[in-house]
Amino acid sequence: THIQWSLDQATKNGYPHFMLKEIFEQPKALRETINRMVHEDNIGFENILSREELEKINKVYIVACGTAYHAGLQGKYALNKISKLEANVEVASEFRYNDPFIDERTLAIFVSQSGETLDTLEAMKEAKSKGAMTIAITNVVGSSISREAHKVIYTMAGPEIAVASTKAYTTQMIILYLLAIYIGKNRNTLSKKDLNHYLNIINEIPNKIEQELKNKEEILTISKLLVDKNNGFYIGRGLDYQTALEGSLKMKEITYIHTEAFPSGELKHGSIALIENGTPVIVLATQKELIDKSISNIKELKARGAFVITIGFDNENLRAVSDKFIPVENIDNIFSGFISIIPLQLLAYYTSIGKNIDVDKPRNLAKSVTVE
Ligand code: G6P
Repeated sequence: THIQWSLDQATKNGYPHFMLKEIFEQPKALRETINRMVHEDNIGFENILSREELEKINKVYIVACGTAYHAGLQGKYALNKISKLEANVEVASEFRYNDPFIDERTLAIFVSQSGETLDTLEAMKEAKSKGAMTIAITNVVGSSISREAHKVIYTMAGPEIAVASTKAYTTQMIILYLLAIYIGKNRNTLSKKDLNHYLNIINEIPNKIEQELKNKEEILTISKLLVDKNNGFYIGRGLDYQTALEGSLKMKEITYIHTEAFPSGELKHGSIALIENGTPVIVLATQKELIDKSISNIKELKARGAFVITIGFDNENLRAVSDKFIPVENIDNIFSGFISIIPLQLLAYYTSIGKNIDVDKPRNLAKSVTVE
């Protein structure tokens, strides 16, 4: 595979920062990734995983660091739900110490934007030595991780310059979802009807993200309420929790506000003690069958003084209990992580700008980490 990056792609192209440019490039990056992989109801992974290989596999490990790890969490969810295959996710730096149960029937997927993260590379070598079949999902052709893997799938994100990852994240996610659909199709765990349903949704995601990006003024306004905060929380259930983790990481990386993400049900087991008057809590509530639970969590938080910003599909009751409500485009629950992350990226970006931080190059962080 040969992917050419033009000079134009590596400049800010009129945007004030690379991060904003990259956030706005997501619809295009996703469309390119989808168009390259999907033709009608065929997903082009035959050369990555043959039917015979798929018959052998009984378990998947996804291994990565940072934002790529968060993409992996969403991928695990997709593999479980869509392909009904046991999937595990591990932080690459911990992987080796956990004595993972890996053998010839294990598919090990390594996700890395740069393809150079040493922890991820070392984890891959370990999985290979135990007999796993390895796949790299990376954005950089010829990178160390792409060379070490048995097979490589490239994200079509184009160069990502800002330290905080955005378009690499959503393109990694789309690859993992497509892989889940491909595996489900070829292992016959996915009906023809569901296959078409899922592929239709996949094809709509870039347009929906485009719609989401139109709300940037509203997010900018909300960000002004966060610039003076020292700490905050992100909560959600199920897939919303995984998205909360990435939203919180974005905020920490570029605003230096200490935020933590919790499963909504877990906050009360300790950390709710930290809620004071005005503590911001960002509630992710896109899982339709969980809305009532979210509402009661919000009431609990409000009673303790929290300032609640809710992100969810438009819903009167959610709107009524929240201090601020950011409605997102409606989408099948299983895919909501593609949509709800957009306001979270923008919120972190504008908060960083409001604090006059060098958003593309935050302190202490590097775009790729080649030490253990
Ligand atoms: C660094 C970057 C993160 C990134 C992580 C993994 O910490 O600052 O943005 O998510 O490395 O990088 P990779 O290139 O392996 O995806």
